[in-house]
Amino acid sequence: MPITHENKVKHTLKPSHHPYLNGAWTPNFTEYTATEMEVIGEIPNDIDGVYVRNTENPVQEPIGNYHPFDGDGMIHSMSFRDGKAEYRNRFVRTKAFVAEQQAGEALWAGIANGVGMSKRKGVGAQGHLKDASSTDVVVHAGKIMSTFWQCGDGYQLDPYTLEQQGTVGWAPLDGISAHPKVDETTGEMLFFNYCKHPPYQHYGVIDKDGKLVHYTPVPLPGPRLPHDMAFSENYSILVDLPLFWDPELLKEDKHHARFYPDVPTRFGILPRFGSEKDVQWFEAAPTYVLHWMNAYEEGDEIILDGYFQDKPDPEPIEGLPRMVGKMMANISIDCFQSKLHRWRFNLKTGAVIEERLDDRPLEFGTFNQQYAGRKSRYVYSVWGEPNWFLFSGMVKHDLETGESWSLPFGEQRFGSEAPFVPRINAVDEDDGYLVSFITDMKTDTSECVLIDAKDIEAGPVCRIMLPHRICSGTHATWADGPTIRAFQEKGE
Ligand SMILES: [Fe+2]
Repeated sequence: MPITHENKVKHTLKPSHHPYLNGAWTPNFTEYTATEMEVIGEIPNDIDGVYVRNTENPVQEPIGNYHPFDGDGMIHSMSFRDGKAEYRNRFVRTKAFVAEQQAGEALWAGIANGVGMSKRKGVGAQGHLKDASSTDVVVHAGKIMSTFWQCGDGYQLDPYTLEQQGTVGWAPLDGISAHPKVDETTGEMLFFNYCKHPPYQHYGVIDKDGKLVHYTPVPLPGPRLPHDMAFSENYSILVDLPLFWDPELLKEDKHHARFYPDVPTRFGILPRFGSEKDVQWFEAAPTYVLHWMNAYEEGDEIILDGYFQDKPDPEPIEGLPRMVGKMMANISIDCFQSKLHRWRFNLKTGAVIEERLDDRPLEFGTFNQQYAGRKSRYVYSVWGEPNWFLFSGMVKHDLETGESWSLPFGEQRFGSEAPFVPRINAVDEDDGYLVSFITDMKTDTSECVLIDAKDIEAGPVCRIMLPHRICSGTHATWADGPTIRAFQEKGE
């Protein structure tokens, strides 16, 4: 069968006017396998691997207020080989998802509610949530690992079949944050977590075979809300950002994040296998950074690119109830005004130099991961639909010449995070494709597109029509097919 309905999960979600339960964020309840789909253009035969995207896809009527970051993890994948493609989508069978399926109702309240509303004990840095495993996704040691932004377990799935493979055995008590980073050169994976008790943050290294080989505190002054980390060839970069839960309210177990504009942003840089005593701290202009781009070393300096938020605590969107308007502004690229920015840290002198690279609001950066931790020239970002957490187009930057190119996805067409797919036997850094799922709200369909990274303005070279319109989400990754198969042949 070219398209198979695998499962339809039990759901209790009622129709509502919630902006993130409708339109491009309407959740899916059916799992599909599609081995033959309509293709507009031709699937290139010079790529081999899997595009994997995590989405926040709730199935139960929420307890209290719903926030899109509460949704249950659903993985969508498109695998490519020999000019053919296969699509699958599966819920991540987290412990919480299974418990709520059995109960037939939501058991945990989400991040937009006061504590005490959950029917069961929660997990994560906040402490009262379910681990939805719906934020981020990487492929490491031949397996997909999904993670949750408030820290949780690492849920594993087979990259080709999306078969559930349980959780990683090495997750520390404080869990794993979203955004572990895979160094394709060494095969290692770097990760961090954060929590409300001293030392408030840890960092660790998983070796190429999936074993925990390093774990150390990187202490923070109090509970903080880091979201991402970065690494260069020899160093790891963690942060202490001046947007965190108000310490006074936290004493009453109230989680109200505030931006402290007079508190500097601090960067903690340590050797990959360094410990607490090796962390060198640098101070820079106050901001919040959701996501980093690449980092690399040059002489005595470490150079880090990322998205500096000009308005980390944006005003609520007008014309909406204040709480809804604030929630929507907090997750809207054009509201928090994240700009591509460069920090240079001098390890000898302690000096920090900052530079704005582009003044347009952009986020969700990708680049050729073979250059991760090493100097890269080409980076790719998306821009947002005004007032929404939806991606309306992408930009390619040449960081050497300062040139940039843009591709709008089209009216009412919303993309996903678009990783770089290297062409087989590629020589140039940008010799490959950008891959994205796009949902077209005019036709109520979704498709997977491949865009020539050397000429993004030409638009997709190929469009593969999915068997259903998929719910929007956050993070995605590309994983190399031969690397996955090498692990699978080893039986790991
Ligand atoms: Fe993220």
